[in-house]
Amino acid sequence: MGKGYGYGKVILFGEHFVVYGLPSIASAISSQTDAVVERKDEPGIELHDERPEIPGYKKEKFEQQSDANRRILEAAGVDTEETGLKITLGGDLIAASGVGASAASCAAIARALSDELNLGFDDEKINQLAYEGEKGYHGNPSGIDNTAATFGGLIWFLKGDPNVIERIKIKKPLHVVMANTGIVANTKAAVAGVKERKEKEPEKYEKIFKRAKSLVHEARRALETVDVKKVGKLMDENHKLLQEIEVSTPELDMLVSLAKKNGAFGAKMTGGGLGGYMVSVVPDKETQDKVAQVMEKNGFKTIKATVGG
Ligand code: MEV
Repeated sequence: MGKGYGYGKVILFGEHFVVYGLPSIASAISSQTDAVVERKDEPGIELHDERPEIPGYKKEKFEQQSDANRRILEAAGVDTEETGLKITLGGDLIAASGVGASAASCAAIARALSDELNLGFDDEKINQLAYEGEKGYHGNPSGIDNTAATFGGLIWFLKGDPNVIERIKIKKPLHVVMANTGIVANTKAAVAGVKERKEKEPEKYEKIFKRAKSLVHEARRALETVDVKKVGKLMDENHKLLQEIEVSTPELDMLVSLAKKNGAFGAKMTGGGLGGYMVSVVPDKETQDKVAQVMEKNGFKTIKATVGG
């Protein structure tokens, strides 16, 4: 029996823009997906998905997930007609949009596969396999999600050849609250929508992209100097840019307002958008509890996390 794991993640700055080679900042969260891979006598893949989920997520993603698994196995050089495999997914990361659930499962499966078949893959290779798997979900992923899922920590990520991946070190961890709209979103469609609109309105998008780039650099400085208020302000601004490229929704905007009304320094949608999660940065543990409580009272599932710790 082979075992593996992948971290959930939160994108603090730069989603969508990262697909076009702009910098982005993401952090792993402590929740993770676990995978177990076992050999079976019959050929093919048998998948048991026991992850907790936002209702509808697993059904909605089943085709993409099957595609992802095929891609991971192919990239690992495993022929399931010769070696039948049973894959079981579990762990405490909720299978939902916006929290890197697909990337976490890809990294977990790649690790469990390597463990079961004694393939000796290091983290670089796991990340590469998880990236191949992510193509099943995203089409053209930037690589930020699988990088956070594989390596963990707080990272600066720039897509390129090769990607730039730097660890961001901060003196004091930041408290964040994530809240889920309950909407299962299609990241592939969100990314394709941005591409289409960007091609239609190049001048408008050029301005937005220019600001998005400088904003992520400012955010890195604010994080490194633990200027949490500034981090919040920049999150607000990042959210506006995401509204302008039309990947936010009224539900996400409402969660952003609710977090701020209850003491968050700033908030934004996180991940692909069109549903999924909002993330807010709060001054302290007390406010973190308060914001999470208000969200839960209003029926929204939350994740409390610390980043950079
Ligand atoms: C999805 O979590 C993040 C996006 O930027 C897509 C990607 O980077 O591949 C929307």
